Amino acid sequence: MPEPFYITTPIYYVNARPHLGHAYTTVVADVLNRFHQMLGQESYFLTGTDEHGDKVVRAAKEEGLSPLAYVDQISELFKALWPELDVAYDCFIRTTDPAHIKVVREILQKIYDAGDIYFSEYEGAYCFGCERFYTERELVDGRCPDHKTIPEVIRESNYFFRMSRYQDWLIEYMETHPDFIRPERYRNEVLAFLREPLEDLCISRPKTRLQWGITLPFDEQYVTYVWFDALLNYVSALGYPDGEPFKKFWPTVQHLIAKDILKPHGIYWPIMLKAAGIPLYRHLNVHGYWNVDESKMSKSLGNVVDPLELKNIYGSDAFRYFLMREMVFGLDSNFSEEALIQRFNSDLANDLGNLFSRSLTMVHKYFKGIVPQEGAGTESELNLGLKADAEKAVEDYQRAMEDLAFHKALAAVWEFINRINKYIDVTAPWELAKRKSQHQQLQKVLYNILEGLRIIAGLIYPMMPRAARLMQAHLELPSGDAFQKLEDLKVWGRTIPGTKLPKTVTLFPRIVLDEPGNRARETVKPAGTSPAAKPEISMKVFEQMDLRVATVLHAEPVPRSQKLLKLKVDVGEERTIVAGIAESYQPEDLIGKQVVIVANLKPAKLMGILSRGMALTAADKDTCRLITVDGPCEPGTPLT
Ligand code: ME8
Repeated sequence: MPEPFYITTPIYYVNARPHLGHAYTTVVADVLNRFHQMLGQESYFLTGTDEHGDKVVRAAKEEGLSPLAYVDQISELFKALWPELDVAYDCFIRTTDPAHIKVVREILQKIYDAGDIYFSEYEGAYCFGCERFYTERELVDGRCPDHKTIPEVIRESNYFFRMSRYQDWLIEYMETHPDFIRPERYRNEVLAFLREPLEDLCISRPKTRLQWGITLPFDEQYVTYVWFDALLNYVSALGYPDGEPFKKFWPTVQHLIAKDILKPHGIYWPIMLKAAGIPLYRHLNVHGYWNVDESKMSKSLGNVVDPLELKNIYGSDAFRYFLMREMVFGLDSNFSEEALIQRFNSDLANDLGNLFSRSLTMVHKYFKGIVPQEGAGTESELNLGLKADAEKAVEDYQRAMEDLAFHKALAAVWEFINRINKYIDVTAPWELAKRKSQHQQLQKVLYNILEGLRIIAGLIYPMMPRAARLMQAHLELPSGDAFQKLEDLKVWGRTIPGTKLPKTVTLFPRIVLDEPGNRARETVKPAGTSPAAKPEISMKVFEQMDLRVATVLHAEPVPRSQKLLKLKVDVGEERTIVAGIAESYQPEDLIGKQVVIVANLKPAKLMGILSRGMALTAADKDTCRLITVDGPCEPGTPLT
């Protein structure tokens, strides 16, 4: 029985909406989880949200909400995003869950009783953004290295965790476990940090300053420092100490993080585990940062990439593929939508999509859609090394996946895809089909191609579960659309002759930009991306939408756009709205029409025009219809 597999993502702060970076880590976790399931391992995948601390209180205040109402709202955004990206986690933990709070208090008490927590007065430079004290040495020109702000000097009595006691032990542990933190560059970073004396960690905040946190079990006047609380999610989610999942999965745990939170995971966390008498994690896997158009992603630069928006345009498979193919795990990478479109068209639509549809079309044309017999003919004659190449592809892929080199794993699959494309060109089935005497060769060639496609469908499953399933459903594999085990991909000949295959399908319709420089978001809607049902919302959430009747006063085309019209509407006041309806309406037909708009949508610039609201439409692939009212209404009338 292979050993179980347990993978975690960071639990994300709820002070911001989910973005590309969060999506990357969580998709990597999902890819690894699916891969280990393919290896036959029982797996557990944990993600969630980190909901206590100053940051959250401040973000809630900005939104005019109580911390609890605020964290409920943002946590839901994360929870709702993951199924959209085909992320199939086993547990979504929130640090406000009572079961988590109980575990944090138990562990704090345990460490306190063991004498590793002491009370002391401390004065230091405190960065509110990071929620931690900084030593002089860590500051850059007196400023927080992350937030570039000058920390405030705070004097406080607090509880401290004796990390210093464990410094030598941790160095030794890391030296005897070289892959404890990987890739190596991050291990070296932690070791370099440990060369300097390790200071004890302040693990409390007085309630006079912060109430939003877990009360210390041994002092009612304090809450727990958010990192001490958050890190414990990895054990509390499994039902530490007695839960079956804890016993089964904890010994195999691997964490996944980006380089920004290396120190808490590489130093605080192992020491916390040691002090609490819990075995250490097996691996800390650290990846680099996504930058956007060569700059750091930030709210102030306005370049934060919304994963849901990309999924809605390109589909979740293509988005996941791009992330996995483009980033070298451990290094920083640059995101650009142009690069995504490029990969979509060349790797997905051309290489894989064309191979799949041309192969199935041939099976229908020459064999009425029935998988042919393997047929006669010597292997060397007709296999032309395809079987050996398949074996090599699976081997290279497995090695790369085990090394977290997802880009290499995909490169191995694509090498094989291109190999089959060449095989088709060399064997030229259309020529074989011309002569009856070559019927058996034709059978064998098409059988080999289908078998190659089966292996490809299996290999892409962790990254592109939808396309894998669609391919498998069209290949009518005995496994149905369930994933194939890696062992199944190592054996040649699992495709069953005589099976009737459905008609071919376009896996990835090419993205054609109607105007140079125009973003695909205006022009494409790949097949297989029909919107999934959205998660349930409460009346309260629905009521936040301000829907109103508006009368169109004026309409004109937006220069250089085929889709957009600029509307001037009366919604009790005059407003400009940009609507993507130019292909379905002439501007002059709109004057006087009463439409429904979302009046409190954050203004957005479209082709340089600020749109203050959005006209509601019902759109299918051909036309789009404006939503109107059933009789004249006063402009600005709210919808209820
Ligand atoms: O740090 N590129 O939460 P967080 C790649 N709550 N990954 C990125 C990224 C980027 N540009 N930006 C963010 C916290 N990430 C704590 C964690 S765990 C016990 C507590 C991803 O919301 C990456 O995984 O700031 C990074 O480590 C994480 O989001 C930080 O998320």
